Amino acid sequence: MRQVAIVGTGCTKFGEMWGKSLRNLFIEAGLVALEGAGIGGADVEALYGGNMSSGRFIEQEHIGSLLADHSGLSATHIPSTRVEAACASGGLALRSGIIAVASGYHDIVVAAGIEKMTDVGIGSSIDALASAADREWEATVGATFPGLYAMMARAHMQEYGTTREQLAHVAVKNHYHGSLNPRAQFRNKITIDTVINSPLVADPLRLYDCSPITDGAAAVVLVPAERAREFTDTPIYVKAAAQASDTIALHDRRSLTTIDATVVAAERAFKMAGLNRSDIDVAEVHDCFTIAEIMAIEDLGFFEKGQGGPATLDGETAIGGKVVINTSGGLKACGHPVGATGIKQAVEIVEQLRGELGKRQVDAAEVGLTHNVGGTGGTAVVHILAR
Ligand code: COA
Repeated sequence: MRQVAIVGTGCTKFGEMWGKSLRNLFIEAGLVALEGAGIGGADVEALYGGNMSSGRFIEQEHIGSLLADHSGLSATHIPSTRVEAACASGGLALRSGIIAVASGYHDIVVAAGIEKMTDVGIGSSIDALASAADREWEATVGATFPGLYAMMARAHMQEYGTTREQLAHVAVKNHYHGSLNPRAQFRNKITIDTVINSPLVADPLRLYDCSPITDGAAAVVLVPAERAREFTDTPIYVKAAAQASDTIALHDRRSLTTIDATVVAAERAFKMAGLNRSDIDVAEVHDCFTIAEIMAIEDLGFFEKGQGGPATLDGETAIGGKVVINTSGGLKACGHPVGATGIKQAVEIVEQLRGELGKRQVDAAEVGLTHNVGGTGGTAVVHILAR
């Protein structure tokens, strides 16, 4: 297997992008990524596009062909593949692209993520998202994602004493980080009171505990590490690309308070990279709800089980803390265009490791991690990247 490097990144602004279609968003992010790598579309040998539910959101399937076509690559008949794993579609597209380069099948690959969610009403988008849960046993009886994560939050509060204030602080921190990110959907700073007094969504989760409905796209260019400096002076190397799966339904799991797919994907990633948790300077983790970030930083091994809430409240995960989590603003404030999120996480970490992020830059960041979850943990994808 060859080592792989990321040599170009692109990401659109996230939010309600009324004037841009799915294909426009993809082209916008892709062009910036190609420009960063100093290449043109004709140089790209294969394309992987993470997308969760374009059939439900914009009534368009066959996304692989659509992306190649509107990149002007239909004439070269480039292999172009849509990758789907619910909210982990982007992370899985990245891993698929890495495997394609590592195996020697292709030298120059674009991995992208795209989702256009705001063209349908909230009822339709919640139902489209619920198709990533077990339709027969969860969604049909009203267990949508806010409801499922609310159950996980209640169980975590009962088992570990996690408090309402600790959950709220995840949102406060991520909105602060988002205020420093020009691409973020929400750039407003909030307080614990803002979260606690916001409308109830699924007890105990309130509006500010939830990631929003978002449009956006992101893309990276992948090449073999030995060729990386042909494309950029600041390549970022892929140290690990790990994936794990679990039962799709939450009620079939061993525990409501641990996402085992995250635990296993993280173990595989750290073993692959030959690195320890203490080597990670900065991470983008899957905070689709505030409880999800607390569980993620525990399940990834950054904090003991039950210590995620107190560590967040103590500022250990904010800029300047022990391991800085979600400098982009996370899914909570940067936004969560579901199929794009895993690639946006990689873009944020690459740009951190290149030292390009200004006010939200983590000092001397050398090693970073991305963590992308599908559903309530039926899929988890963990990447480790280094300078
Ligand atoms: N955080 C903070 N503010 C939010 C928000 C969020 N997650 N979602 C919406 N808002 C704001 C809007 O900007 C708007 O503000 P304004 O009145 O100042 O313009 C206001 O709240 C109402 O927005 P609206 O779009 O009507 O909200 P909604 O009630 O339709 O949707 C949720 C709110 C929480 C139901 C929706 O964001 C949601 O379903 N989130 C979860 C998504 C999800 O499950 N993703 C998959 C995870 S696995």
